[in-house]
Amino acid sequence: MKLYIETLGCAMNMRDSEHMISELKKQGYTSVTDDAKEADLILINTCSVREKPERKLFSEIGQFARLKKQGAKIGICGCTASHMGEEIIKRAPSVNFVLGARNISKISEIIHKDKAVEVAIDYDDSTYVFDTARNTGIKALLNISIGCDKKCAYCIVPHTRGKEISIPLDLILSEADKLAKNGVKELMLLGQNVNNYGVRFSLPHSRIDFTGLLKELSKIEGIERIRFTSPHPLHMDDAFLEEFASNPKVCKSIHMPLQSGSTRILKSMRRGYSKEWYLNRVAKLKSLVPDVGIGTDIIVGFPTESEEDFADTIDVLEQVGFDTVYSFVYSPRPHTESFGWGEEGSVPKEVASYRLTYLQDKHKEILRQKAKNEIGKIHRVLIENVRTGEVVFSEGRSDNGKLIKIPNKALNIGDILEIQITQSDGGSLIGDMLQ
Ligand code: 5AD
Ligand code: SF4
Repeated sequence: MKLYIETLGCAMNMRDSEHMISELKKQGYTSVTDDAKEADLILINTCSVREKPERKLFSEIGQFARLKKQGAKIGICGCTASHMGEEIIKRAPSVNFVLGARNISKISEIIHKDKAVEVAIDYDDSTYVFDTARNTGIKALLNISIGCDKKCAYCIVPHTRGKEISIPLDLILSEADKLAKNGVKELMLLGQNVNNYGVRFSLPHSRIDFTGLLKELSKIEGIERIRFTSPHPLHMDDAFLEEFASNPKVCKSIHMPLQSGSTRILKSMRRGYSKEWYLNRVAKLKSLVPDVGIGTDIIVGFPTESEEDFADTIDVLEQVGFDTVYSFVYSPRPHTESFGWGEEGSVPKEVASYRLTYLQDKHKEILRQKAKNEIGKIHRVLIENVRTGEVVFSEGRSDNGKLIKIPNKALNIGDILEIQITQSDGGSLIGDMLQ
């Protein structure tokens, strides 16, 4: 049988989709198709972090219902499934089941039921061992925790993914070991709040924190690079930053979600840190790893955000010189604290979208300047993608997260090579092998 799966949202959702694919293989869905018309099961793994994609969900379900082959099932999974539950089936009766983001390990049972809804956010599958897909390539995602205990005023995730539970160390290590034996060289550790690892286990467990986990994982032979997403700036203590800097297997690029540069807005977002704390952590990081790559997430137009608050965000953007920025206009989400504020303090749409464009243009300028400064530098690059045919090139990422293109060369995927930057093209980098 054939499976069609659409994955929206974050890396966590990507990993959940991978888990569902490998579990469904055991249920007879042996091939994944990109044509929904020929699928026996259609899954949409949804994201609810912003309103727009969620609004589109029901028209999408309608389209699938019209084009699917007779007898094919439709399942809605992920974060929107978690927070809307059976309302999805009420509004779209063509849906056969609804499976929440916290209930992914129940996929093999739920496909046999009709009109079933499994969305309990207190369900604990932190010790469930998913089937490992073979031949995953050289990079793999690896969950280290589920859920999130934070209470950021704008964020629906604690409501969709439940409270935070860490996956036991021995399970993580055995999974990483299996992946390494399968040819994986780079691990991406996943958690909603990844560097809060060790906060709570569902079974008695010896004490370990994220810094300890990094130490343990880097002992695994064959794993050459370790990345992680998403850490919280609040949990970036000195011990963590020192391990990040000194462990040669830990890649020197990091995501540090800022959300806002204004201490006043950060407070009402309940982020738990100030502008000064954030800049202090960046300064410490840069003092330890001068060439570190830093990425971030920024929300503009949060309720009551003034020109002055926004200027603080731009100030941090310029001071840090982020390598990647994911920026969004604030979107009120149900089940969140700021949703309860209604229209109070809301920033007019035009103002918020003007700020978004301004921020994105400023960031493009920063990237152009940064790319120019890269010329002549040498990076160790893991080759991830090779194109042959009319246009030949290879592509890979440096240790500090920069995407580098090597024109006219078909290199070996999985090799780690010394590449010198020869040109910058806008914000992107072009390089060649050191002779
Ligand atoms: N509105 C806009 N952006 C949001 N994010 C989370 N919730 C909202 C919201 N209600 C953004 C944050 C987060 C990223 C995954 O999505 O920046 O880090
Ligand atoms: Fe990921 Fe959050 Fe979207 Fe859920 S709501 S898929 S956790 S980004």
